[in-house]
Amino acid sequence: MADQLPPHHRGEKFVQALFDRIARRYDLLNRVISFHLDTRWREKAVRAAIRTSDRLILDVGTGTGDLALTAAPTANKPGGTIIGLDLSLQMLRRAREKSRRRSAHATRFVLGSALAVPFKDERFDVVMTAFALRNIPDLPLFFRQANRALRAGGRLVTLDMFPPPDSIFARLYALYFYRLVPWIGAGIARERGAYQYLSDSVRTFATPEAIAELIRSAGFRSVAVQKFFCGAVCLHTAEKPEPLQPPG
Ligand SMILES: C[S@@+](CC[C@H](N)C(=O)[O-])C[C@H]1O[C@@H](n2cnc3c(N)ncnc32)[C@H](O)[C@@H]1O
Repeated sequence: MADQLPPHHRGEKFVQALFDRIARRYDLLNRVISFHLDTRWREKAVRAAIRTSDRLILDVGTGTGDLALTAAPTANKPGGTIIGLDLSLQMLRRAREKSRRRSAHATRFVLGSALAVPFKDERFDVVMTAFALRNIPDLPLFFRQANRALRAGGRLVTLDMFPPPDSIFARLYALYFYRLVPWIGAGIARERGAYQYLSDSVRTFATPEAIAELIRSAGFRSVAVQKFFCGAVCLHTAEKPEPLQPPG
């Protein structure tokens, strides 16, 4: 039944089962489909996200841990920790294996939901996500959870794919991403349905401006958008405001 619903309404159980199925081939397919650009975009997100003074960082929808592991060298100092949170145990298994292989001692991986972030209020310096927003069924709730988990002055950084604005590039992109990518998913991962879902989740996603508005509505300020790849990939950054001081 969930297969019939638009991508953003299919719910966490559907998403979890899908990522459990594709976990084994997920990294390989990312590299192939994006021509290796995905690693470059994550590096840009980390440069925008992390400051040397940050100690505790949360990567929501961490999957196989690529964003957390990209951030690990920056956060790798005494007391520095990056926690990767995800619904899918199979994705987290890969993340833990990769973290062990790379001796990324600052990373930890935790099973849990973006809609009920399992940490106390005001703990994190940064909450970040890469390519996870399109799968989260209730984005206003997620942005409120991110706001709750951040300390005052902490930063939200989200990287994701968006339908590019109409142009020749957008038409070529549509041909490639919406038509060809599901077949690449079928060829490499034997999972045409999962990669059809991922294509559809981009095709039907909100505009970057609408996401910026949701972030603002959750209580963030200084919301900014950087666009890459003719607008097909966008990085949102925002800050949780410091509480107002009573007039002295
Ligand atoms: C496309 S992958 C992105 C993984 C990784 N961030 C990256 O850069 O490759 C999306 C991940 O978000 C996770 N996810 C989706 N919805 C979630 C939710 N509501 N709570 C926690 N994780 C979620 C999925 O299980 C999946 O591992």
